[in-house]
Amino acid sequence: MITIPKNNPRKREKSNIALIGFMYAGKTSVGKEVAGVLGKKFVDTDDIIEQIAHKSVSKIFEEEGEGRFREIEIEAVKKVSKIANSVISCGGGVVNNKVNIDRLKKSSYVVFLRVSAQAVFVRAQKDKKDRPLLHGADKKIRIKNLIEVREPLYTAYSDFVVDTTDSSVKEVANKIIAKFGAYNDSKSK
Ligand code: S3P
Repeated sequence: MITIPKNNPRKREKSNIALIGFMYAGKTSVGKEVAGVLGKKFVDTDDIIEQIAHKSVSKIFEEEGEGRFREIEIEAVKKVSKIANSVISCGGGVVNNKVNIDRLKKSSYVVFLRVSAQAVFVRAQKDKKDRPLLHGADKKIRIKNLIEVREPLYTAYSDFVVDTTDSSVKEVANKIIAKFGAYNDSKSK
């Protein structure tokens, strides 16, 4: 656990933890666990996107395309970057636009939840929630290619990395809490 001096300005500046990483890395379940333990609010950028667009993520992709989805995602990240004392689960493509990371970093420690392509494929097979970017028969190749492109970005943009491939939600959450729990800003709750 990190000890922070009482007058450390970073404590006030950054009271959020933003989770980035590929689809099925476990951002939502880990984020909810971390938020619960630290008494922070849990926020998901996809939920904010759906509120802004008044339609589901799948419908945005289907009716307006990925380009429009990314524009709304920028708007959503701008909004969530202004809140405090929260755990923010970011859509896997948040790293596509660096402005998102620049904004998040002002209020958040950024944690990259790494996951193997094989684990993503297995988890995707079991899940009912639609991921428009994984449509099609060549799912395995799609996942591998996208991870290859994004992995260097997730790594470069994060303050801390946790591999979720063979770990439970609790194990991953505990690592994040051990690293950033001390930055909890109880005053902004
Ligand atoms: C996307 C990930 C999704 C969602 C959208 C696009 C991506 O969120 O934002 O389908 O580009 O990786 P999750 O990472 O929460 O599944």
